Amino acid sequence: MNNNRINALNIDHLVDAKHGRITPSIYTDPEIYELELERIFGRCWLFLCHESHIPKAGDFFNTYMGEDPIIVIRQKDGSIKALLNQCRHRSMRVSYADCGNTRAFTCPYHGWSYGIDGALKDIPLEEIIYPHGACKDKWGLVEVARVEIYKGLIFGCWDENTPDLLNYMGDIAWYLDGVLDRREGGSEIVGGVHKWEIDCNWKFAAEQFASDQYHVLVSHASAVQVLGGKQDDASTNQLGDAQTARPVWETAKDNLQYGQQGHGSGFFFTEKPDANFWVDGEVANYFRETYEEAKNRLGEVRALRLAGHNTMFPTLSWLNGTATIRIWHPRGPNKTEVWAFCITDKAAPAHIKEAFERSASRAFGPAGFAEADDGENWIEIQKVLRGYKARQNKLIVEMGIGREKRREDGIPGITNHIFSETAARAMYRRWADLLIHEDWNDVENATAQYEKELVG
Ligand code: FES
Ligand SMILES: [Fe+2]
Repeated sequence: MNNNRINALNIDHLVDAKHGRITPSIYTDPEIYELELERIFGRCWLFLCHESHIPKAGDFFNTYMGEDPIIVIRQKDGSIKALLNQCRHRSMRVSYADCGNTRAFTCPYHGWSYGIDGALKDIPLEEIIYPHGACKDKWGLVEVARVEIYKGLIFGCWDENTPDLLNYMGDIAWYLDGVLDRREGGSEIVGGVHKWEIDCNWKFAAEQFASDQYHVLVSHASAVQVLGGKQDDASTNQLGDAQTARPVWETAKDNLQYGQQGHGSGFFFTEKPDANFWVDGEVANYFRETYEEAKNRLGEVRALRLAGHNTMFPTLSWLNGTATIRIWHPRGPNKTEVWAFCITDKAAPAHIKEAFERSASRAFGPAGFAEADDGENWIEIQKVLRGYKARQNKLIVEMGIGREKRREDGIPGITNHIFSETAARAMYRRWADLLIHEDWNDVENATAQYEKELVG
């Protein structure tokens, strides 16, 4: 998009992180969406799949970066490439299976055939249709510029100038380790991918997972009522202590929301290694049994951290304990395609991995008892914002403003009380800075300036 059009969108005025106000058009405007595809999905590190999806040469997994279809494929030398799933002849998709193993991708339209490295190998009737020779060496599948792996998670990035993955992640890596690094051997994805569509903008989902513990009290009230009284495993749960009927924010030792560089996380510091009522008994027992190992690797806070929410900007979210990790693929300003995986410790026995899968589906599968509550809210907001009058009213995102701090107990990043919107403000500020600035240095400087104003 050219600079005149970007300037006309006046992005800076749509997000007022200092005062906590968001202009609704950021969720509805097709031009803003187009700019997101270019400057956010075209430049940020995006989660592609897990190494456990593609262990052998020729193994591939089909996903998306924004709206671009991407084949992630293991090469003969063990390295990984990410290729645009677009035939160079007439843009047909060359790979259809969700995943599999192959020696070539042959386009179903006219039969051009590509190797697993993306090189164009064969053109049917080549001598007749290109008598002077085809530019086969120039017509390979387009390759994603950068692929990096963080503890089993494979990420792709189109932009050579984006900071490397670890710098891009910043402190969210510390929070993510609570899922990826509990036990020797790391993590693994079990089962398939739940895929479904929600009629809402992707930012509602990403923001809620970054920043919103507050909704749980009301949106998930029915699930809380049913599960909160359960006595068999966890006596402390995400919302209340079943034995004392006291809310968790009174019984927990502490709580936290983290928000920086667009990423966010939130959790209560409970004291029991099975304290998450969203999971079922077998999974709770497993957490109890593996607590010491996790504590040795991660320290007490993260070993005990079995509930809570997280987003790595822009569209990778996960929930500890319930072991759901998902991508919010954008599908226009008004639609999101959710891809939810179940992630477990690789060292867990097979029957426990199955228990994790059941547990994740029960709570956060497409028909899960908690999942449906969330989607309902986002869909209704999106509908409300179709109204002209409704779009004149800014969203209020000012919870906890001015109370951000850096902790002194080794927990990294800019933090606040769990019931705040620090992570939401950080996410929208980063979002705006990415749309406004063409140069990554300017993006990083703007983020640093915002953070300096918050905590000095
Ligand atoms: S579009 Fe692929 S071979 Fe023609
Ligand atoms: Fe929720």
